[in-house]
Amino acid sequence: MSLHPNRQDGTGGSKRWIKLSFFYVIIFTAVIISLLVYKSWDEVVILAKHKQSSAMKGFLNATDTPKSLSNNTGILQPKMILYWRVNKSCAYFTLTKPGPSFKDLNCPVNNCVWTDDKAKVKEADAVLFFDHCLKDVIPPQDRNPQGRWVLVNHESPCHVNTFKVLSQWDGLFNWTMTYTKDSDIYSPYAQVIRNDGDSPVLSRERSLSIARNKSSLVAWMVSNCRTLSKREKYVEELDKYIPVDVYGRCGPLACERRSKRCSKILSDYKFYLAFENSLSKDYVTEKFFNMIPMNVIPITRSGANFSRLGIPSALHIDTRDFKSPKDLAEYLKRLDQDDESYAALLRAKSNYKLLSWKHSYCDLCKKLNDPKEQSKSYSTLEIKEQLGSCVPPNDLQHHHFLQNRPEDEIYMEVPHN
Ligand SMILES: *[C@@H]1O[C@H](CO)[C@@H](O)[C@H](O)[C@H]1NC(C)=O
Ligand SMILES: *[C@@H]1O[C@H](CO)[C@@H](O)[C@H](O)[C@H]1NC(C)=O
Ligand SMILES: *[C@@H]1O[C@H](CO)[C@@H](O)[C@H](O)[C@H]1NC(C)=O
Ligand SMILES: *[C@@H]1O[C@H](CO)[C@@H](O)[C@H](O)[C@H]1NC(C)=O
Ligand SMILES: *[C@@H]1O[C@H](CO)[C@@H](O)[C@H](O)[C@H]1NC(C)=O
Ligand SMILES: *[C@@H]1O[C@H](CO)[C@@H](O)[C@H](O)[C@H]1NC(C)=O
Repeated sequence: MSLHPNRQDGTGGSKRWIKLSFFYVIIFTAVIISLLVYKSWDEVVILAKHKQSSAMKGFLNATDTPKSLSNNTGILQPKMILYWRVNKSCAYFTLTKPGPSFKDLNCPVNNCVWTDDKAKVKEADAVLFFDHCLKDVIPPQDRNPQGRWVLVNHESPCHVNTFKVLSQWDGLFNWTMTYTKDSDIYSPYAQVIRNDGDSPVLSRERSLSIARNKSSLVAWMVSNCRTLSKREKYVEELDKYIPVDVYGRCGPLACERRSKRCSKILSDYKFYLAFENSLSKDYVTEKFFNMIPMNVIPITRSGANFSRLGIPSALHIDTRDFKSPKDLAEYLKRLDQDDESYAALLRAKSNYKLLSWKHSYCDLCKKLNDPKEQSKSYSTLEIKEQLGSCVPPNDLQHHHFLQNRPEDEIYMEVPHN
């Protein structure tokens, strides 16, 4: 449509004036109506999302109504989250589609929008920087003084490489978003919450039949065979007393990761070794969480205190509760002979379910709306202290290999899994 529809028709005068004012009246009315509709629509959306939140109890407290965060008008200003995308390939462990995807999370407080437009750095309420992508990246010159720069990290201090280069970021971050409980936005690989009857809790009968039907004992699926945690040594020792079936690059058995066949094979086992590749505070990865929906009992070996993370002991067998791999093996063998006790473990475990790591982004959105949040910033040292250190194993007889090892050498290993 042309901006000047009457320019050439030559009629001019009052006719044209009437047409034009009619046009403006319509535009004006449309603007007023859409403003009104927008206001109430927004409230409706917030309420609707809030209702849904009862389905994710235990994650965000349902008594925290969005109202308590809003101002007198009851409307929350949109918050912009800028996802600082270093390059296309460095986009691991985040919402892959910035943009409307925030709404898909069904957060109780959901007035946040994503962008990856770096030009918005002066207005963004939060800018997310991913630790493993920051190598050689120069901090932006501009920032919104009221906005938060957030360091996002999911690697243990044994493998985080940024700390070598973090000096140019000294004092620039306001918040941390990591798997440690001490971070500003707690962002673990997943969380476990009570299953409020919305997914099946095993009956006694069913758990017993599953237990009796299993034909295999201990499985381990792994691709990184030389780790800082020396889990391979632990497994070697354990295998002397109870057979461990090793799948993947470090063993004789094959099973394609994340395939249907693989999870079918796995569900025939009683136990799964969810051993972390490195040991440090609060560091628990998908190796453990992937077992939550399965009728298999994970055996964990990590640097984490699970009760500190709100993970009940019913969900796993912790190697730390055993003096040695031999003691653990004896316990597992006893359970193997005792279907009643093993079935009881399965039943206890089925009372819990997973909450996706994505939900920590709801916490971020909520926090951005909280007027009580103080301003703060982190020095490089404070960030290092918060993540804690890389802990050498203390449950092996010959663990001298980690001591006296230069720090650089530790950082240079880049194992995943
Ligand atoms: C929600 O918060 C209230 C008060 O702050 C507390 O009493 C209650 O236990 C919390 N509920 C959950 C599920 O965290
Ligand atoms: C409160 O709402 C009004 C109207 O939408 C807005 O102008 C103001 O910025 C809001 N204040 C805050 C703190 O969100
Ligand atoms: C993307 O960034 C990462 C981290 O800085 C770097 O290692 C990688 O080589 C980059 N990839 C490309 C294609 O530039
Ligand atoms: C028992 O195991 C067999 C073969 O692994 C499977 O087909 C069957 O569904 C299992 N039965 C139960 C009750 O889990
Ligand atoms: C583990 O965490 C719980 C809960 O925070 C605490 O009471 C307990 O002392 C911790 N255990 C160890 C060994 O630190
Ligand atoms: C964030 O950190 C910067 C740099 O230290 C600081 O200037 C700013 O006041 C902080 N902002 C908030 C909201 O904490």
